[in-house]
Amino acid sequence: MSTDAIVLLKEDHKEMRRLFREFQNADDDATEVKAQLAEQILEALTVHTYIENEGMYPETRKLLPDLEDDVLESYEEHHVADVLCAELAAMSPEDERFDAKMMVLMENVTHHMDEEEQDWFPKVRDGLGRKQLQEIGARMIELRENAPRKPSDPRALKKTLEAIVA
Ligand SMILES: [Fe+2]
Ligand SMILES: [Fe+2]
Repeated sequence: MSTDAIVLLKEDHKEMRRLFREFQNADDDATEVKAQLAEQILEALTVHTYIENEGMYPETRKLLPDLEDDVLESYEEHHVADVLCAELAAMSPEDERFDAKMMVLMENVTHHMDEEEQDWFPKVRDGLGRKQLQEIGARMIELRENAPRKPSDPRALKKTLEAIVA
């Protein structure tokens, strides 16, 4: 099995897009289904953001200083998603603002994933060798084992906050 960092992250993105589609296709009044999907989405996002924040971003920033601006923008985008996730974790589908907030989250994350896939990953692949990408991927697989799964876990917020306010 490949541990290529970009392959792993793209697989996560694909799963996220699948969950987003399911949520969008759910009936308006299917509150139980929506609650369940939202929980899966928040968990998938929390884990994915964590392994990028702890594995992919700092490593890339160190190895490819030219991509620093992209990494900084990505941390900001993660932060916006973190805030929305934390708020959604405390809400239920019956809340008036639940669907609207989920939509904004999914739109933001989709934009962010598109940018990573179309713009950022190709630059990273050009700049790093296969071996480096496999090492970063292996590290992310390790990080995933013990990653926070809920947006309320303080570890889910730590790296982004360090990067944007420290
Ligand atoms: Fe990201
Ligand atoms: Fe990503």
